[in-house]
Amino acid sequence: MTTTDVRSEGRTLAVVLAAGEGTRMKSSLPKVMHRVAGRPMVGHVLDAVAAAGVGRVAVVVGPGMDGLARWVAPHPTVVQVERRGTAHAVLAARAEIAAGADDVVVVFGDTPLVSPATIGRLLDERRRGAAVAVLGFRPVDPGPYGRFVLDAEGGLLRIVEARDASTEERRIGLCNAGLMAIDGGLALDLLDRVGCDNAKGEYYLTDLVAVARAAGLACRFAEAPEAELMGVNTRADLAAAEAAMQDRLRRQAMAEGATLVAPETVYLAADTRLGRDTVVHPHVVFGPGVVVGEGAEIRSFSQLEQARVGAGATVGPFARLRPGTELGEGAHVGNFVEIKASTLGAGAKANHLAYIGDATIGAKANIGAGTITCNYDGFGKYRTEIGAGAFIGSNAALVAPVTIGAGAIVGAGSVVTESVPDDAIAIARSRQSTKPGQAPAYRALRRARREGKV
Ligand code: UD1
Ligand code: CA
Repeated sequence: MTTTDVRSEGRTLAVVLAAGEGTRMKSSLPKVMHRVAGRPMVGHVLDAVAAAGVGRVAVVVGPGMDGLARWVAPHPTVVQVERRGTAHAVLAARAEIAAGADDVVVVFGDTPLVSPATIGRLLDERRRGAAVAVLGFRPVDPGPYGRFVLDAEGGLLRIVEARDASTEERRIGLCNAGLMAIDGGLALDLLDRVGCDNAKGEYYLTDLVAVARAAGLACRFAEAPEAELMGVNTRADLAAAEAAMQDRLRRQAMAEGATLVAPETVYLAADTRLGRDTVVHPHVVFGPGVVVGEGAEIRSFSQLEQARVGAGATVGPFARLRPGTELGEGAHVGNFVEIKASTLGAGAKANHLAYIGDATIGAKANIGAGTITCNYDGFGKYRTEIGAGAFIGSNAALVAPVTIGAGAIVGAGSVVTESVPDDAIAIARSRQSTKPGQAPAYRALRRARREGKV
C-alpha cells in the first residue's frame, strides 16, 4: 500500500463509533461488546484499524459504558452523552479532530468483519482529491442500509437512509457500509453543517456527502465485498457475522497448513494459532488464547481455551483444556480429561478420565485413569507437583498441596495426603482382607434371612 507511511505517522485519526445502545439486540451489554469468534466486535474493528497503520484512535462510547471503555483502553474514549445520530457521535471526538489530522476515518463498532486492506483502500480513495470518501457494498438484501445516490457521471451525490428513501431510491443496490474517510482539515466544518431534518430526527453522518457536494467539494466511494461489511444490529445478524468470521478463520488456518477434517464443524477464536500439519478432527471448539504447535492432533469433541499445546501432542476425543494449560511436546491427553492451570511435560500422558488442576507434571509422567488432583478445599487452591517419569495408578486422589517425586509410583486407588520422595512407592488405601471359602456360607445366611428362617 502506497500510503502506509503517511498513515503510520499518526496523521490519520480513526473515530470508532460505539455509543449506540443496540436496542435491537435486546441486551444489557453494549452492542459492540457482543463477541464474534470469542472477541468483542469492537476488538475486531480496532485490530483492523491498527493493521491498516492508523496511529491514533478515539472510541466514542455512551454514558455508563465503563466496561467498554476499560476494554478498549489504552485507546482514549469520549462520551457521547445523548445519542443523536452518527454525525453527532463523530463530533463527540471534536477535540481529537481539532488536534489535527490529515484524514479522519470513521468506522462503526458494529461492523466487525472489515479488513485492514479495505480501510487502506478507503483512505487511498479519499486522497485522490476528495473531501469525503465512503465505502459502499452491494448486499444481497439492501434492506436497512443507506443507499448511494449517484450523479450522471457516476459520482457520489448523496446518501439516503432506507427509512427516508423513496420507493425508487430503495431499489438502489449500492449501499453505505458506514466507513467514511474525511479530509482532516475540513472535517469539523463539514460535520457542523449536518442537520437533523429526517425520519429519525438524528444527525446522520451520511449527510456529510450532500453537505460536501453543496460546498462544491468532491466525494468518492470505494466498494468492498458484503462478507466484510455486514453491520450487526440484531442477534440474527450477530450469528451471520459469526458464520462469516468462522469461514474466514477456517480458510486462514488451512492456508497456514493445518488440516481441518470437517471445517464447518470447527469453531475458532480470532487469535487461534494452529501449527503446520496439525490435524483438527470434526467438532472441536477453540476459545480465545489457544496456540497449537506443529503436527499436533486435536480429536473430536474437545474444547480448548487459553491453552498451549506442544508440537506432536494429542488431545481428545472429549478433552477439555481450560485456561493456563500447557502441554509439552508429544504429550497425550485422552478422553474425559479436564486440565486447568497445569503444565504437562514432554511426553507426559493423561489418557482417560482425569481432573488435573493447579499441577506441574514432569516429562513422561503417566497419570492413570480416574486420577484427581484435589486442588480445592472449599477455601483455597493448592498445587500438586509430579516429577518426571512418575507413575500415578488409576483412581488416585492427590490431595494438594502435595509433591510426588520423580520416578515415584503411586498405587491405584490411593488417597495421597503426604508428599512422596523420588523413586518411592506410595500406597495409601485400606488393606484388602480375603476370606477363603466363605462365600457359600454367606449366601446361605442371606437366603435364610430373606425367607424369615433366622
Ligand atoms: C448506519 C448508516 C447506514 C449504513 C449502516 C451500515 C447512518 C445514519 N446510517 O445505519 O447508512 O448503511 O450504518 O451498517 O450513519 N452510533 C453512535 N451514536 C449514535 C448513533 C450510532 O455511536 O448516536 C454508533 C453505533 O454504536 C454503531 C454505529 O454508530 O456502532 C452505527 O449506528 P447504527 O444505529 O447501527 O446505524 P444503522 O442504522 O445501522
Ligand atoms: Ca448498524
